[in-house]
Amino acid sequence: MTNQRIAAILRAGEPDETVTVQGWVRTKRELKEFAFVEVNDGSAMANLQVVINSDLPDFENVLKQLNTGASLEVSGVLVASPAKGQRIELKASQVQVYGDADPQTYPLQKKRHSFEFLRTIAHLRPRTNTHGAVFRVRNACSAAVHQFFQERGFLWVHTPIIAASDCEGAGEMFAVTNFDLKNVPRTDSQEVDYAKDFFGKRAYLTVSGQLEAEVMALAFGNVYTFGPTFRAENSNTSRHLAEFWMIEPEMAFCDLQGNMDLAEAFLKYIFKYVLEQCPEDMEFFNERIDKTVLATAENIINNQFERITYTEAIALLEKADKKFDFPVSWGLDLQSEHERYLAEDLFKKPTIVSDYPVGIKAFYMRLNDDEKTVRAMDVLAPNIGEIIGGSQREERLDVLERRMEAQGMNKEELWWYLDLRRYGTVPHAGFGLGFERLVQFMTGMGNIRDVIPFPRAPLSIDF
Ligand code: 4AD
Ligand code: MG
Repeated sequence: MTNQRIAAILRAGEPDETVTVQGWVRTKRELKEFAFVEVNDGSAMANLQVVINSDLPDFENVLKQLNTGASLEVSGVLVASPAKGQRIELKASQVQVYGDADPQTYPLQKKRHSFEFLRTIAHLRPRTNTHGAVFRVRNACSAAVHQFFQERGFLWVHTPIIAASDCEGAGEMFAVTNFDLKNVPRTDSQEVDYAKDFFGKRAYLTVSGQLEAEVMALAFGNVYTFGPTFRAENSNTSRHLAEFWMIEPEMAFCDLQGNMDLAEAFLKYIFKYVLEQCPEDMEFFNERIDKTVLATAENIINNQFERITYTEAIALLEKADKKFDFPVSWGLDLQSEHERYLAEDLFKKPTIVSDYPVGIKAFYMRLNDDEKTVRAMDVLAPNIGEIIGGSQREERLDVLERRMEAQGMNKEELWWYLDLRRYGTVPHAGFGLGFERLVQFMTGMGNIRDVIPFPRAPLSIDF
């Protein structure tokens, strides 16, 4: 007898096979002589139908406990299912209920719940069809990320969560403090210098692992990070989180062109992998969430991304027959409505915009010969807007120092970063992919808070 996952049974289980499964009741249907219980263990969208005959010992008592949400272990033999829509079902010979779930209070009812409501029960929503599919697809995306880079010989490097510097220079950092809440009761009147409270020094939650990834790339060639990052921007939108996961490859001896090529190959690889690994979940999203999900995936895999410069993008936006809320003018940053216009309305596919004005991008991006633009690139996705941000890095010490001075940065704080240009500098490039935006793009889910198990965003920290 083997304990099996329901996905494997539904796919390959044969009549007369004896199996044991463990999971949670989705629904129960009682007839006179027997009952049908739909069991789900998270391994698949579909449930395993369990048939319990009234000759099972303690039949009535067992059945009473098998309400939606109850946990159980059931053993029996598989039989070909006479019902439509399923190949196989399980005839129970032994049922053990681990924990019942009172139908009067269990928040997940058979009806469809709104995502807003499900956010208030983030501890139970993984048991729903939609979130089951979201988190399986999220897992497949993670596996694809590692597989893509490992196949290409990239080293996975772990960069710190607690950081001393602001990589993006946008001032959107959460301070870290070792303030001792136990021994020094905090009152509102008490003044605490949170910004200097990491054992007497300043520390923040990292906004990006890029600078540390650059350190590693200048020893190992090609590396990538995959970890949580934090932004203290008070953005209450469907695309922003205060805590999100980022994947940041960094390549030595690589320029902007190579960076764009990698970003495109990377996105194509992940979409292909997920379509192969999670076909039922992707079908579900296409049917229930967004009718364009599968077509979008095929579009990503089979078509070349559009590539334009920022200057070209501005010209296209100025010509657009669409009225934008935010102004379009060379030198101003693209707003999400502009990004979406380009990727969604104009090109109808991911669009890589490069060579942005120096004034709107971070200090570390390589200055072009025109001295007006930097070798930046953003990948814009239909429905999402910016999904990837990256650049070729400024590898020339004198130029980098000039840029830092112009931005009023403290060069001493980043002495180690400057050392990389002092000793064995090379052209190098990298990018950051927002992992939740990728999962949103993949699944068609409208709100970023619904693609991460425990969303952290303004007014969202109950769990
Ligand atoms: O464009 P960003 O700020 O770039 C960086 O952090 C660079 N250091 C990356 C690099 O070159 N290594 O962020 C990268 C991506 C964005 O394109 C977006 O997908 C995502 O991170 N992102 C967010 N996702 C969710 N919530 C937020 N508040 C996000 N801010 C950025
Ligand atoms: Mg960006």
